[in-house]
Amino acid sequence: MDRKIFFIDSGRHAGIRGFLRLSAGRRQKRAKAVSKEEAVQDVEAIVLSIPFAKYPDVAPLFNNVPEATVVIDTSNYYPFRERAIADIDGGKPESVWVSEQIGRPVVKAFNAVLAVTLAEKGQPSGASGRIAVPVAGDDPEAKAVAAKLVDATGFDPVDSVGLLNSWRQQPSTPAYCTELTTSELKAALQSADKARAPENREALLCSFASSLVTTLSFPALTTKAHARSC
Ligand SMILES: NC(=O)c1ccc[n+]([C@@H]2O[C@H](COP(=O)([O-])OP(=O)(O)OC[C@H]3O[C@@H](n4cnc5c(N)ncnc54)[C@H](OP(=O)(O)O)[C@@H]3O)[C@@H](O)[C@H]2O)c1
Repeated sequence: MDRKIFFIDSGRHAGIRGFLRLSAGRRQKRAKAVSKEEAVQDVEAIVLSIPFAKYPDVAPLFNNVPEATVVIDTSNYYPFRERAIADIDGGKPESVWVSEQIGRPVVKAFNAVLAVTLAEKGQPSGASGRIAVPVAGDDPEAKAVAAKLVDATGFDPVDSVGLLNSWRQQPSTPAYCTELTTSELKAALQSADKARAPENREALLCSFASSLVTTLSFPALTTKAHARSC
């Protein structure tokens, strides 16, 4: 797979970049510094891996990006980490909201796999127990690009159908960061319960907040959890 991918990130989840080391070694040696606006002009795919609530900030970057460029959204909504967004709390799938913010279609991928999993657990295609990663989107060609990237990164892509259905791979669903194989992931996507996921996410926050480690490491998070009467 010889493609040019632009990554908007540099945080923990930037492990997807390992893919570049596999496929673009020669080009990396010839790399030169360009602005974000220039960099997104000549790529087949853009991988967005920034805090969820920051998407409105990057919208202008897409003004002149060709329609054929595939945009991959890796984000997750954690209201206690950033800010509450009424549309999402009302049930709008997270990547649908992202798509609206940047004004173009997105494919949801890599959101349901931890950075540490990406960095350490990728395996060659066909390996026994290879971990599967859900890919949701409305454009089959765009989804195929994302699926190839998932495969090249060391994971089995699983089509989780359209973006409206992408809540099935959001935080606190059975498919979210649970390191399942393809058949297990398909079953997990089917068994997701849309109403329970936000409740599970809140319960997780309360569980974190009650642990001594969290109290020591993330005092701000703990304060927010207490404000929610955990
Ligand atoms: N970490 C994981 O295991 C994991 C797993 C699945 C999905 N995700 C999702 O991936 C996304 C990124 O997570 P992360 O763990 O990598 O977060 P992170 O370590 O906090 O990194 C976030 C990155 O986004 C950049 N950023 C923040 N605001 C920005 C803006 N307005 N424009 C451009 N870049 C901006 C930050 O740059 P500065 O440092 O310069 O501010 C930082 O490099 C989140 O939506 C998260 O839910 C993460």
